[in-house]
Amino acid sequence: MKVAVIGGTGKMGGAIARKLSEKNEVIIGSRDPERAKLAAGGIPGARGADYAAAAGDCDVAVFALPYSAIGAAEGLGGALSGKLVLSMVVPLRREGGMLRYALERGSAAEELARLLPGSRVATAFNNVPVAMLLEEEVAAIDILVATDTREAYEEAAAVVRTIPNLRPLYAGPLSEAGAVERMTPLLLNLAKLNETKSLSTRFVSEEG
Ligand SMILES: NC(=O)c1ccc[n+]([C@@H]2O[C@H](COP(=O)([O-])OP(=O)(O)OC[C@H]3O[C@@H](n4cnc5c(N)ncnc54)[C@H](OP(=O)(O)O)[C@@H]3O)[C@@H](O)[C@H]2O)c1
Repeated sequence: MKVAVIGGTGKMGGAIARKLSEKNEVIIGSRDPERAKLAAGGIPGARGADYAAAAGDCDVAVFALPYSAIGAAEGLGGALSGKLVLSMVVPLRREGGMLRYALERGSAAEELARLLPGSRVATAFNNVPVAMLLEEEVAAIDILVATDTREAYEEAAAVVRTIPNLRPLYAGPLSEAGAVERMTPLLLNLAKLNETKSLSTRFVSEEG
């Protein structure tokens, strides 16, 4: 699959691009194509492009932008029309030493879907700390995918499964994206308050 990582020059984008590049053709998208090429140079098989070219060239796009920058999607609607878009964006703010979810209602993924009306938008990778993605072997983590149809979930799940040890779980329609995104500040606060290393999501059942 050809996967564009919009914001692939960043911490999270770079880490997910490296993992995805093991089984996919990766295009690093940056506002600055030179920065994209530089970042792609460090990832085997990857290439760099500006956001529009990366979006136009891919089968699937991963958005790894800060929440404050998701307006960049506005110009990409045509290039991403008919495509799957995975959002790892989490709106965060600091308050009294705690991290808080920054939106009163809705979610970043739903905002992205409004900016990209022709795309199938899904959450993915929101609850994976970058430190865990940088490990050579990623721990067993559940990736919560909220998206409007089962078909879009299956498409997103196929991308998630290209990274060993990651288990996709269907979290329901995109209206559930806020519940998924809200877990990120909880995980970050838990790690800080309990002085653990980075924490992520792994659900247990009666079967273990
Ligand atoms: N860090 C984590 O552990 C983690 C875990 C899960 C989810 N997330 C979420 O993933 C997203 C990316 O996080 P990150 O820590 O990787 O972000 P980051 O490194 O600060 O930024 C990612 C990239 O966004 C691009 N960008 C576009 N417009 C921007 C603007 N106005 N200001 C700053 N950067 C801009 C930049 O690429 P160009 O300038 O090259 O275009 C930058 O390299 C966030 O929404 C975050 O909440 C992060």
